[in-house]
Amino acid sequence: MKLYNPGLPGNSAMSYAGLIEKIEILRTTLRWANRLERADIEKLLRQSNVLRDEVMQLSHKERFIKAASESNESDEGPARERLPGERRQALLARSFVFEGTFGDNPELLDALEVAEKAAPTDLPVLIDGESGTGKELMAKVIHANGSRSDKPFISVNCGAIPENLIESELFGHKRGSFTGAATDRKGKFESAHKGTIFLDEIGELPLTGQVKLLRVLEAHEIQRVGSDEPIPVDTRIVAATNRNLRKLSEEGIFREDLFYRLSVIHVNLPPLRQRKDEIPLLFSYFCDEAAEMMKRRPIRMTPQLREFLLNYRYPGNIRELRNLIYRLSCLAGETADVVHLPVDIRPGASVDAARAASAVTAATATTATSPASVVPAAPASLHGLTPPAASGARHIDVSGMPLLPGALSDARRIASDEAEKAFLEKGLREVGGTVSELARRCEMNRSHLQMLLKKHGIHSKDFRAPRKAAADEVEYGR
Ligand SMILES: Nc1ncnc2c1ncn2[C@@H]1O[C@H](COP(=O)(O)OP(=O)(O)OP(=O)(O)O)[C@@H](O)[C@H]1O
Ligand SMILES: [Mg+2]
Repeated sequence: MKLYNPGLPGNSAMSYAGLIEKIEILRTTLRWANRLERADIEKLLRQSNVLRDEVMQLSHKERFIKAASESNESDEGPARERLPGERRQALLARSFVFEGTFGDNPELLDALEVAEKAAPTDLPVLIDGESGTGKELMAKVIHANGSRSDKPFISVNCGAIPENLIESELFGHKRGSFTGAATDRKGKFESAHKGTIFLDEIGELPLTGQVKLLRVLEAHEIQRVGSDEPIPVDTRIVAATNRNLRKLSEEGIFREDLFYRLSVIHVNLPPLRQRKDEIPLLFSYFCDEAAEMMKRRPIRMTPQLREFLLNYRYPGNIRELRNLIYRLSCLAGETADVVHLPVDIRPGASVDAARAASAVTAATATTATSPASVVPAAPASLHGLTPPAASGARHIDVSGMPLLPGALSDARRIASDEAEKAFLEKGLREVGGTVSELARRCEMNRSHLQMLLKKHGIHSKDFRAPRKAAADEVEYGR
């Protein structure tokens, strides 16, 4: 049975007339076929899939043209002069996929409008901005709004792969090509075939990797390590960096030709401190999100806390704001206050004073201030994962964590340990340090609860009123 060959030259010039013709051929075949073999059915399925993809590509192109013409319409005036709400509404009306990106700041809307135009093309996009400004989220937005949205989105952190493994990680390897290469393995580019590859921290890619990447951009093919065979890849590249690539290329650390190749479309995400108008919206978004996750009511904030959060500099940008709201939602009752902030950022207190304050908080409704109940937060400079049991860290930042085997489960374990510890401390605070009461309320076995307290080095007596604490023996083992 012969229909049309989707691989024939000429198919790339898609038009509605061409598509209708192909659909007609398909219909005629089906109408006159009195018996179809399995192989014929599969062939028909493949052809209808190709048709579906072509229809999607056409519709994406149409949206692209529509977006471009709408933003050029003179009666609407320049986008910047329109109200942010209107711009967001216009994006929504064009079925733009936000992927959870929140905010009405003009700079963010600029970035989203560029993403909208870039999405249906296969042009490389370079996103830059400080850590936590939403670069990966923006890359996902670009992927979700393009014709590759139902194909893989593969994220690679170029800064987390050891230099000697980067080539194999990106392009794969042949069995035996180096010690430890026990089997043939495909790389990230092959995994992202037909989809999008997100090259995070591209500024950290060593020069040898840069040369190889340039070749992929030029020839659209890769070679696995240890193989001469070129493998064609059709992958859209979105790269991100928190460094100044232009400056790096002037210093000879980053290839200039690669910089120009990658930055055909350039999206800049400003730091949160430059778009403070976003903060209230992000508060309510993350408060609701955290409440839903923790199955509780969204927290309220005291005016002091709100004032602080509205004016804080957020060196970790939106990620830091999100983590703070989650922390507050976990540690505070109905209303969160500045005392629930991590010690190192708490306003108006030196670290020592803040630690003392933390001890007071830990023994809410009591006057106990035993240093054992102090929960110091991670210093701002502490990046990467330090087990909370050892460091008392409250703020987990995985940005510096190398992407090594087992790292994800480590991250999960540490995050879960952190939440467990915070939950136990909050529980003890609420029950005035009575373990049996906490066990009853949580419907937990008391000895299991004591084991957990021991694991985290939590002493229930630190949460009791001083007189009661003095009268009682250490809770462990009782
Ligand atoms: N505009 C936004 N609306 C809602 N959430 C956002 C927004 N921007 C970022 N986020 C959230 O903030 C967190 C950090 O975002 P993301 O990982 O994309 O940042 P990044 O710039 O890639 O950071 P890094 O450079 O450290 O890798 C994520 O949880 C993301 O969902
Ligand atoms: Mg990132």
